[in-house]
Amino acid sequence: MLSKRVVLLLAACLVSIAEAALWPAAADSHQSPLTLSRAGAVNQFPDGFMLGAATAAYQIEGGWDADGKGESIWDRMLHEHPEYGTNGDNGDVACDSYHKYAEDVQALKNLSANVYRFSISWPRILPNGDTDVINQAGIDYYNNVINLLLENEIQPLVTMYHWDLPQALQYIGGWPNSILADYFVEYARVLFENFGDRVKFWITFNEPPAIVSGYANQGGAAPSQPAPGIGDYLAAHTLIKAHARVYHMYQEQYKALQQGYVGITLNCDWYEPVTNSTEDVEAAERGIQFMMGHYAHPIYSEEGDYPPVMRQRVDANSAAEGRPRSRLPSFTSEEVAYIRGTSDFFGLNHYSTLLATSGETGSVPSKEHDSGVISYGDDSYPQGSASFVRVIPWGFRKLLNWIAAEYPGYPIIVTENGYPDWGGLDDKNRTSYYTSYLAEMLKAINTDGNNVIGYTAWSLLGNLEWSSGFTIKFGLYQVDFNDTERPRTAKDSVQTISQIYSNKELPIEYFP
Ligand SMILES: *[C@@H]1O[C@H](CO)[C@@H](O)[C@H](O)[C@H]1NC(C)=O
Ligand SMILES: *[C@@H]1O[C@H](CO)[C@@H](O)[C@H](O)[C@H]1NC(C)=O
Ligand SMILES: *[C@@H]1O[C@H](CO)[C@@H](O)[C@H](O)[C@H]1NC(C)=O
Ligand SMILES: *[C@@H]1O[C@H](CO)[C@@H](O)[C@H](O)[C@H]1NC(C)=O
Repeated sequence: MLSKRVVLLLAACLVSIAEAALWPAAADSHQSPLTLSRAGAVNQFPDGFMLGAATAAYQIEGGWDADGKGESIWDRMLHEHPEYGTNGDNGDVACDSYHKYAEDVQALKNLSANVYRFSISWPRILPNGDTDVINQAGIDYYNNVINLLLENEIQPLVTMYHWDLPQALQYIGGWPNSILADYFVEYARVLFENFGDRVKFWITFNEPPAIVSGYANQGGAAPSQPAPGIGDYLAAHTLIKAHARVYHMYQEQYKALQQGYVGITLNCDWYEPVTNSTEDVEAAERGIQFMMGHYAHPIYSEEGDYPPVMRQRVDANSAAEGRPRSRLPSFTSEEVAYIRGTSDFFGLNHYSTLLATSGETGSVPSKEHDSGVISYGDDSYPQGSASFVRVIPWGFRKLLNWIAAEYPGYPIIVTENGYPDWGGLDDKNRTSYYTSYLAEMLKAINTDGNNVIGYTAWSLLGNLEWSSGFTIKFGLYQVDFNDTERPRTAKDSVQTISQIYSNKELPIEYFP
């Protein structure tokens, strides 16, 4: 184990390497310091580009009650309701990364990754959700992971919340209760205090739409509290405020010393209109606004607040249902101003493309119904083992361009992208998914001029795919869940990805 001082020096080195590659901040004050110069050729990644892989705590760590860790809403749901999962699978052991993180770092090294996106389990740090108890064993675990990454010249990109809320906070209502923002701020403070000397890229929340679906549906996502069209909007409202408060806290109290960056990861499919009729084109636009704009518009748009189309439709539906208030809560004008601009980068998870048309869908009330968008997969494209992934690489480039036009000035980090199969080391379909999606991303960068600065493939390891259990395989490395040692084995795709990552270019043969 290297001394802390050496690790700090290494961290400082990594940051200065990353910064040396960045363009000097332009005279235009809206120019992000995280701006990379475009590469010379379409198939090359810009200098300083982050290339790596991603995971999430509940999906890989195991050690669900080890060394003082508290219970999360996912522990609770899959213990009490194994039928909400698959084959009784849960995260009790998963990939056992709580004990085997050194092998994960080796796997990253073998992949030629220079960044690792992972998440911190809130109940491993704060078993009660609050700072009355800070679990030193949890702090030690993440210190070990971070230090080992830095020793291997791998930049940590840390998600603060990837869905595993302390159960203690669900007892007081979870995210629909706006007090959760206060708890999240205090949790984030513990992370900045303990890890901020070495972690320079922070993501507050991963995929808010998936988080809040736990307050809209029975089964599916924890905590499984079905209040569609109400609980999910309230939860989203809290998440957005919590994100903004953590961003401001970092700017005011940590930025000067720690010099890091704070953002959020939003997920979105590309919505392609079924026809070029105005109705379909508007439906496709509305699909993106309801899925991603819900969170992105308050944070990244010039005007802030919820997308006007959401405000108008949810208000109208709420009135038609005979309610005395809109189901979509409102921000005060002070809150709108406070939330706008609270991200240094745009984290994007993207997997696939949907066809969109306009029409009645979903239960009343529900966000789906409010959107008035009927969306479905186009079965002329191949599908992975998860129904939500159809291989439609051109949708990725369209979405990157949409984001750059709608929210100009924000660097984009692609924090998830990947292909699910049924297992096996021969994974040609995964290789071709990655190479075709990377080609579209490089066109968005080098041809269209978008400032994408990093890419972390989902996922480093085969892992617990939430309620789908271990049946859906996203990993670049196979993990044998029947073996107590949980051995990791590189799939064939690792060789191709590792070459791309180390050469910083995608072979030209992959460009159609
Ligand atoms: C990484 O590569 C080394 C050398 O080829 C190999 O011994 C090791 O098992 C690999 N590690 C993983 C996790 O694949
Ligand atoms: C819509 O118009 C574009 C541009 O003219 C064209 O490329 C595309 O094929 C059309 N889409 C459909 C579904 O007709
Ligand atoms: C790979 O994709 C093709 C085309 O969708 C499909 O027919 C095939 O079954 C897939 N192979 C595997 C091993 O999943
Ligand atoms: C364990 O092995 C059995 C028999 O080969 C297999 O059917 C099952 O899918 C495996 N379980 C996991 C979680 O990999």
